[in-house]
Amino acid sequence: MPEFASRDPLAPAFWDERFDRAFTPWDLGGVPQALHAFVARDAKPRTVLIPGCGNGYELAYLADAGWDAIAIDFSPAAVSRARAQVGPWAQRVLEADFFSWQPVHALDLIYERAFLCAMPPAMWPRVVARWAELLPPGALLAGFFFFGSAPKGPPFGIARTALEDLLHPDFALIEEGEVVDSLPVFAGLERWMVWRRRRG
Ligand SMILES: C[S@@+](CC[C@H](N)C(=O)[O-])C[C@H]1O[C@@H](n2cnc3c(N)ncnc32)[C@H](O)[C@@H]1O
Repeated sequence: MPEFASRDPLAPAFWDERFDRAFTPWDLGGVPQALHAFVARDAKPRTVLIPGCGNGYELAYLADAGWDAIAIDFSPAAVSRARAQVGPWAQRVLEADFFSWQPVHALDLIYERAFLCAMPPAMWPRVVARWAELLPPGALLAGFFFFGSAPKGPPFGIARTALEDLLHPDFALIEEGEVVDSLPVFAGLERWMVWRRRRG
């Protein structure tokens, strides 16, 4: 593990430093299989937000599939990598903070991968509140959730019961499956999940 100057994952500099030094053990290098399967069986293209997009592989994949996709990240280093990565979709990568960014069009999906677990546990209620704020009733939160109990992170694993307690007031779990292409850092500890925003 290299030595880093920035130790605060709530600061963009933390992520800049890791992208700039190519220390990105969370980076799959492509689109996870469970997302491919979800897109293949989903009936309609959706308006989707990818918070904390990192290299943004999923943005190009979803946009190529005809989805109205926007990716945001507050790390300038991540944004410049994602823009280079997604080619013609570069304008759909925005440098923005998830907690203050405002959508232009109503969202019907937020895609989660390694974003909740990038945050220390004290931030989780704020992340969930923002998901609920950004998604209208019936819209989906879909992606990968990392379960673990190690006190140090990132990644910060969440207990299954803690995730359910946080999400159940505003979301209902409608789909769940195993992850077959996990990276070592997440192996055996992540699940694909789809949650639907409750009405009222
Ligand atoms: C562990 S990386 C995951 C990147 C990507 N989702 C992936 O799966 O490879 C977490 C990302 O979230 C970004 N991030 C953390 N807090 C953020 C915030 N408040 N707003 C926007 N991006 C944020 C970081 O800059 C970093 O790129």
